[in-house]
Amino acid sequence: MVTCFQDADSEDSAALSRHTSGVPIQPPPLPDVSRETVGVSASDTPLGDQVAADALRKMRLRGRMFPRPSDTRVIAVANQKGGVGKTSTAVNMAAALAVGGERTLVIDLDPQGNASTALGADHGAEALSIYDVLLGGHGLAEAVVPCGSQNNLWCVPATIDLSGAEIELVNEPKREYRLYEALGDLRRHRRRMEEDRLDYIIIDCPPSLGLLTLNAFVGAKEVLIPIQCEYYALEGLSQLLRTIELVRDSLNPMLDVTAILLTMYDPRTNLARDVVREVTEHFPRQVMRATIPRSVRIAEAPGFGQTVVTYDPHSTGALSYQEAALELAERAGGNHG
Ligand SMILES: Nc1ncnc2c1ncn2[C@@H]1O[C@H](COP(=O)(O)OP(=O)(O)OP(=O)(O)O)[C@@H](O)[C@H]1O
Ligand SMILES: [Mg+2]
Repeated sequence: MVTCFQDADSEDSAALSRHTSGVPIQPPPLPDVSRETVGVSASDTPLGDQVAADALRKMRLRGRMFPRPSDTRVIAVANQKGGVGKTSTAVNMAAALAVGGERTLVIDLDPQGNASTALGADHGAEALSIYDVLLGGHGLAEAVVPCGSQNNLWCVPATIDLSGAEIELVNEPKREYRLYEALGDLRRHRRRMEEDRLDYIIIDCPPSLGLLTLNAFVGAKEVLIPIQCEYYALEGLSQLLRTIELVRDSLNPMLDVTAILLTMYDPRTNLARDVVREVTEHFPRQVMRATIPRSVRIAEAPGFGQTVVTYDPHSTGALSYQEAALELAERAGGNHG
């Protein structure tokens, strides 16, 4: 048993079960694709094992239909701990959902603008951005831009202006509801323009629990929490769950933690395996079966203005995000719908 979960006590489990729907979330089993049925033989080397595992993944993913949700699923990707893979998860899940035919919008709510970079969206000072929506009186529809040549994927970028938004919002009326209202306007705008409704809106949150993240929690119905497989992995999780509970009690009763995704997983280390075991023990309903491995391809894709799903679609990282996206699509989304 590792000592990395300083905050992961029974309080976490109890808190989480209070603000989740209580309905066991069980994704349907993947088809029976074993090494034998796809003709992949066992190997003695780590590289051979990896190649074999990726071949199995491709077989499992091939031809799988992503079920369209009955209503737009708005998902905040949040963890106030920095560098745990929020942005990588937001953009790569979104790209994988888009490849699966889901009409997906990413809202970059982090002043760092990393999601905008990864999606190849212009986020120079002149670009219309989420700041202009939250504080400039612009509609969300005006700030939506397509993401490169990828079908079904759009982004609302974040510019450097957003770094002042936490302070500027403080004295604004309805400061927690700015994104919620913008999302409502977007929905009505699309209906008026007879545009297809969006299937997913993924919000990339900053590494803090300030007003921007609060806006995401009020606008969303679901929270996806990425957890990095490392020591102190669950440090701060109690505070995150308490914040979600407060929002649920006062601002948004629909909010639900629907998924916990383990990122930067290295199966060769005992630590990573221990983290997976402990997170699964504490949060059996929320933890996703798919895990995201530590992968150079995932780290380098943003440098090319791409997600790993388009940058190297056959890499282990891309396949892992595709698996995670399919699992998310197949899970009932808490209170959604
Ligand atoms: N699976 C992975 N394998 C290797 N590197 C990764 C992986 N996921 C993320 N990274 C890298 O780790 C760093 C942090 O990732 P990311 O930006 O997604 O985290 P974050 O939680 O959004 O960070 P922040 O809190 O600053 O917003 C980045 O340099 C990213 O490229
Ligand atoms: Mg980020």
